[in-house]
Amino acid sequence: RRLAHAHTIEDLRTLARRRTPRSVFDYVDGAAEQEISIGRARRAFEDIEFHPRVLRDVSRVDASADVLGARTALPLVLAPTGFTRMMHHEGEIAVARAAARAGIPYALSTMGTTDLESVRACAPTARQWFQLYLWKDREASEALIERAAKAGYEALVLTVDTPVGGARMRDIRNGLTIPPTLTLRTLAGMAMRPAWWLNILTTEPLRFASLSSFDGTVAELAGRMFDPSVTVEDLRWLRERWPGKLVVKGVQSIEDARTLVDHGVEAIVLSNHGGRQLDRAPTPLELLPRVVDAVGHDCEILIDTGVRTGADLLAARALGASAAMVGRPYLYGLMAAGEQGVDRAIEIFGTEYARTMRLLGVASTDELSAQHASLRRTMGE
Ligand code: FNR
Repeated sequence: RRLAHAHTIEDLRTLARRRTPRSVFDYVDGAAEQEISIGRARRAFEDIEFHPRVLRDVSRVDASADVLGARTALPLVLAPTGFTRMMHHEGEIAVARAAARAGIPYALSTMGTTDLESVRACAPTARQWFQLYLWKDREASEALIERAAKAGYEALVLTVDTPVGGARMRDIRNGLTIPPTLTLRTLAGMAMRPAWWLNILTTEPLRFASLSSFDGTVAELAGRMFDPSVTVEDLRWLRERWPGKLVVKGVQSIEDARTLVDHGVEAIVLSNHGGRQLDRAPTPLELLPRVVDAVGHDCEILIDTGVRTGADLLAARALGASAAMVGRPYLYGLMAAGEQGVDRAIEIFGTEYARTMRLLGVASTDELSAQHASLRRTMGE
């Protein structure tokens, strides 16, 4: 019933804000430093101009797309996000089920709060990818890679924009700890968000599934886990251990894209981590056409950061991305209404995408090209 009024991702965001404690909402909604990158990413999508053709038969439209060698219902992938059970007690399982139902891939994070085997088991025929952070402890990383391969994950997504954690000022100010701890301030918040607290306190304790035990702030966790010494040499190490497809997420330059192609990765994700790492990093949508020109024939290119509508998704695809990943949009849905909220988020993208296709005079995703969308401004303007 709550979802009846959610017609856009922004509506889900409003509901999410009402349903979760401030520190949890801010963890999802916030970005690094002055939060400039995420604003720029949004503005780039707003600067897209569509070029419709009229008098085309669009009575039937086919939104499906080839992504990483297989067909998906929509060129959309649910991005890896950490600590998902903090947003809603059903966490990663709810997200995995919704993705499976919609026929789109979900990438489970290394920072997940549900075992990778359980996520696989709840949707055994779905396409699932596993996102990897290479840790200082390589043996632990190796064990994780083996488990992901054994469980049947289709692709490994190595995230490379995180040599150290970004400075998320809202989390620092809110004193966010994982799991959230009871302080005088959170007690006050409890009275205002009783359902969230009741679920968190009465379901299985929130824990970090890849690591036996951890208590502390997000920054402390990042410092203990992330390895600032990772280089392309580690890609070789990874290739020897991972039998499936390899995707590198967090690419932000043409030069790095070329290097990765030389190392034989199947796909790259142009991403600045939702503006949560280096603030004022390049805007992925602006980078996309140039990276497509440089390496588009040699590897698949995905994009994320700031995708909030089906029209954004369509623009990304038209400019040469095989798919877009979204993080916050499905988390807003999860916070708003659990699994049904994630269903709703995906449904919103699907509806908007199909409507935009029709208005553009395009009957299938495969027909989309750079003729259909362009950025009104170019770099340097
Ligand atoms: C993330 N992201 C992320 N990326 C990753 O590789 N591993 C991770 O554990 C996380 N964790 C995470 C938590 C939260 C709360 C958010 C919002 C994001 C980044 C994510 O995969 C993706 O790059 C961004 O979310 C894309 O930007 P939008 O769609 O959120 O604007």
